[in-house]
Amino acid sequence: PNLVVVNHPLVQHKLTLMRMKQTPVAEFRRLVREVALLLGYEITRDLPLATADIETPLMPMQAPLLAGKKVCLVSILRAGNGLLEGMLDLMPSARVGHIGLYRDPATLQPVEYYYKVPQDVADRPVIIVDPMLATANSAVAAVSRVKRDGVKDIKLACLLAAPEGVKRMNDAHPDVTVFTAAVDQGLNDHGYILPGLGDAGDRIYG
Ligand code: PRP
Repeated sequence: PNLVVVNHPLVQHKLTLMRMKQTPVAEFRRLVREVALLLGYEITRDLPLATADIETPLMPMQAPLLAGKKVCLVSILRAGNGLLEGMLDLMPSARVGHIGLYRDPATLQPVEYYYKVPQDVADRPVIIVDPMLATANSAVAAVSRVKRDGVKDIKLACLLAAPEGVKRMNDAHPDVTVFTAAVDQGLNDHGYILPGLGDAGDRIYG
């Protein structure tokens, strides 16, 4: 599958702390932000570089700088905003879009209630951020939505994925690589990832 599991020891350790039910909200927020930064490091590994002529205090040199348009991060509200903050620590100049989706509890289908992205989003590499890839209905809808705006280069960053969600995303959007800290056992009847970490939105925002 088109999947990268970021199994860096710091990511795995922090994820375990996030799973623990006694982890308080302030700690959980801090951990999401830290893990997001580390996921972001992996997800940006193939950003193109160009060579620039610069001068150090001692002499001129040619040195690498990022080439092309800056990344646009697209957060799936609400829980995506937790990951968004950490990614912005890493990429302070990134552009940001928001897509509001909630899962209808009965059908598990995503309902869009907000959508705002930079007008030139089609020219940018896009990283969609959402901590949980459960059924993947939300993420698949978010990818479809930005594709409708002409976006070509899309990656998905999440904390936890269910195998069902990875498969569904790969089937629906085979061009989109999923980056996650772990792939868990599966989904329960309510569409929650098991063993998981609970509802990410609730653990960040209450
Ligand atoms: C959760 C989660 C994802 C989505 C994942 O959001 O943050 O966005 O469900 O589920 P899926 O892969 O089955 O679509 P929720 O609807 O709880 O909204 P919230 O983030 O605003 O709490």
